Amino acid sequence: MNGATVVVVGSGGREHALCLSLDASAKVETIHCVPGNAGTAQLATNHALDVKVDAVIDLVVELEADLVVVGPEAPLCEGLADACASVGIPCFGPVAALAHLEGSKLHAKQTMETAGVPTAAYVRLDEESDLEAALDAYSGEPWVVKRDVLAGGKGVVVTSDRAEAKSFIQSSIASDGFVLLEAFLPGEEASMLVVMDGTAYRTLPASQDHKRAYDGDEGPNTGGMGAYCPAPVVSASVHEKIIQRIVEPMHEHLSNQEIPYRGVLFIGLMIDQHDDPYVVEFNVRFGDPECQVTLPLLKTDMYSLLHGAATDGLADVELELHAGSAVTVVLASEGYPASPIKGRSLDGLASLVSKTTYGQAWVNFAGVSTDANGMFIASGGRVLSCTALGEDLLSTQQSAYQLMSKIELEGGHFRTDIAHRAIH
Ligand code: AMP
Ligand code: GLY
Repeated sequence: MNGATVVVVGSGGREHALCLSLDASAKVETIHCVPGNAGTAQLATNHALDVKVDAVIDLVVELEADLVVVGPEAPLCEGLADACASVGIPCFGPVAALAHLEGSKLHAKQTMETAGVPTAAYVRLDEESDLEAALDAYSGEPWVVKRDVLAGGKGVVVTSDRAEAKSFIQSSIASDGFVLLEAFLPGEEASMLVVMDGTAYRTLPASQDHKRAYDGDEGPNTGGMGAYCPAPVVSASVHEKIIQRIVEPMHEHLSNQEIPYRGVLFIGLMIDQHDDPYVVEFNVRFGDPECQVTLPLLKTDMYSLLHGAATDGLADVELELHAGSAVTVVLASEGYPASPIKGRSLDGLASLVSKTTYGQAWVNFAGVSTDANGMFIASGGRVLSCTALGEDLLSTQQSAYQLMSKIELEGGHFRTDIAHRAIH
């Protein structure tokens, strides 16, 4: 058989990581990215299209793609996997009805209730609700308020300020009709990526993201400032509980749908002081930057894994892992996350392009473009991340920071404590 043609949808560090892993597969001949970034351009053909279902379908049909891999959630919620099914092209990523697990927090809560999966108690609030009584009922810990929309990480407020909680509840009800108020879960967060289809599931090693902008978990929430994998908070016994209480019931539920879930389920977890896991959120895609530290630890051929899940063939794919750890540190533009300044030059990056394939340390491009002279410039909030793979976490962390020290971006910032929870 000729090598496969794969189309990767998305433009971030996650999609660059997916391209790196697919490029390493002997089964893949050509990779295309929609729209991709300056990093994917080195491995794939980028297509500067708006990520709209019709445009992507026209392209994948024209390319006679063997597999479509969808990075972000929005095209899945808009029905890209459904449209791929209708033209007979395998898609890694669930159909819209199941992508709704991420698109609607209320739907996710109701699904967890049906499947008996542990999560925080919540109440749905609308114009008729007594807000003061609800705030009283959930007082004592910070209030957790969640909008029921895809809000790119901006739909959740966790605050001990009652006035702030109330005002976010009121503005959310005004714009969306209702909002969720959720019990605060204390503990340590972890991310678990579970590849699944109608026949099987495969759990990838757990990782930990760093969501706050600054060291010591200070500052505003971001898309993620760095990650490491595996995360020791998910010990063997915690892992077992996650499988029994969360993964098995969710797979049972999702594989019994009319069209089974074919893709990766991202389980955002809180592990409490008794080592009991609770679901904070579901996403229907790889995490970014979790993907950048999880994929390099997989020995399993990436095309076989993703194509297997897209075609209900996962039962035949065995997961094999490398020993060791991976760390990634995100470089963000000045002003990120509120209002990133874009267009500044990335000095030192050009000499590291050879470091965009797996090795000891490499660069995952995210918001990186080239200017009219072909020079790399920062074109996004999260610009790139320096990733390292190694035997022990401390030296791996050091390799990632060493690589970062070679890149300069005026006003750029990165956390200096990625993986601190696991390094004592
Ligand atoms: P979400 O978009 O649901 O993942 O929420 C964003 C972030 O808010 C999470 O990563 C947690 O840090 C925090 N969070 C969400 N729900 C809770 C909760 N019930 N208890 C504590 N923290 C939460
Ligand atoms: N890093 C968290 C996310 O991708 O949602």
